[in-house]
Amino acid sequence: MAHENILVVDDEESICHILSVILAKESYSVDTALTGAAALEKITATQYDLILCDIRMPDMDGISLLKKTIQLHPDQMVIMMTAFGTIESAVEAMRDGAYDYLSKPIKAKEIILHVRKALERKKLFTENIYLREVVQEKFSFNKIIGKSPHIIKIFDTIKKIAPYKSTVLITGESGTGKELIAKAIHYNSNRRNNPFIAVNCGAIPAELLESELFGHVRGSFTGAHTTKRGLFVDAHGGTLFLDEIADIPENSQVKLLRALQEDEIRAVGSNQTVKIDVRIISATEQILENKIKENTFRESLYYRLNVVHIELPPLRKREIDIPLIAQHFITRWCRKNDKAPLAISPSAMESLLNYHWPGNVRELENVIERAVLMADDCTIMKENLPPKLFQKKSDIHISLPDDQFDLKKIHKDVSALVERRLILQALRKSKYNRTHAAKLLNISHRSLLYKIKEYKLECEEEVS
Ligand SMILES: Nc1ncnc2c1ncn2[C@@H]1O[C@H](COP(=O)(O)OP(=O)(O)OP(=O)(O)O)[C@@H](O)[C@H]1O
Ligand SMILES: [Mg+2]
Repeated sequence: MAHENILVVDDEESICHILSVILAKESYSVDTALTGAAALEKITATQYDLILCDIRMPDMDGISLLKKTIQLHPDQMVIMMTAFGTIESAVEAMRDGAYDYLSKPIKAKEIILHVRKALERKKLFTENIYLREVVQEKFSFNKIIGKSPHIIKIFDTIKKIAPYKSTVLITGESGTGKELIAKAIHYNSNRRNNPFIAVNCGAIPAELLESELFGHVRGSFTGAHTTKRGLFVDAHGGTLFLDEIADIPENSQVKLLRALQEDEIRAVGSNQTVKIDVRIISATEQILENKIKENTFRESLYYRLNVVHIELPPLRKREIDIPLIAQHFITRWCRKNDKAPLAISPSAMESLLNYHWPGNVRELENVIERAVLMADDCTIMKENLPPKLFQKKSDIHISLPDDQFDLKKIHKDVSALVERRLILQALRKSKYNRTHAAKLLNISHRSLLYKIKEYKLECEEEVS
């Protein structure tokens, strides 16, 4: 069995030496680096199970090294070591993604204990036992909030396609929930007990992407000191989520297409192919058709990736979901902050409905998180919302879908505020032709008249 490998980074040679001896005794395989730059080179080329990193070093301090490391490998286990025991730098390191810290002088027993704990933790993570239940619960449908016809349709699609291996392309603006949907597909398929691995194709340098995806053999390029398994192999039996697929470099597109067509991959520098069983879900904010026209995205790859297409509409186009999602986040953030459940005032809700949400659900969550903190009593007021919501007096945007709309069906789920707005929208869309408006809403002419009265919309009609 391969021993877990640990990299020790410290500018003091004696410390590197002592730690190597202590850890080698425990059967770990240890590598050392005396400078941040040397460490970074090693980290780029090799996957370490754990990195022990000094905070104060002359060339690159430990915190900068930590940040660069986490950029390369977001799940990297790092334990910081600090000679001064300054709690501030340790706290900063934890915030930047370090798992733990130790203050010097380091005692053998203590270091072994911390290393074991970190590696144990890592193992739990990679084996996907840790939180498996919780994760599955998290991506069950009831955690994707929405009752708009768009979202209901997406739920239907997910249910239908989840069990199959067909590729799925998810498109939509930033923050619309592309990754959430990708996970929902995975965790509702029989692949759920195997890994879901996400890779951001835009964030990995072009020259590293292929080795990241397909792996490489030792010596295949400068810096390839070890053989590395690629993400395709890691995701075997599960799902690989290729985020920002539009940014995948052209030469990697060919290799990806081949992998999809043949169900096999070849590591960089190897002449052996390996059979793989991986479902590919990809996502992008960009219009891939445009990239095909510009000849920067291969049409053949596009068709391979796009067997099923799920388009997530922006939040402003599914207005009836706004109160539901807002409520969901209020509950979540009250709980997280140990606050009693807060209500939201109608005028604050109206402001949420009027805003155009360029950052979509993520932005809404952010606004709610802040509002929960700012709210004084038991209600979130307009004043607790950020000024950007009030900068431009935006008109009610039309969020009425063209088809499959049925006010009666959704009625029990939407607040009166939203219902009023939907009716108003239907009236405006139909230029105040009530018969036409009733058709748009799928309700009878009579009920529309009743609702116009109930919501006092007669005056609106006169104004127009
Ligand atoms: N319908 C929803 N119900 C509840 N939470 C949601 C919903 N849609 C999105 N979210 C939450 O909003 C945040 C953003 O979603 P996600 O990361 O999936 O978006 P994205 O489309 O991948 O964004 P980006 O393009 O910026 O990567 C996440 O915290 C996600 O859990
Ligand atoms: Mg995303």
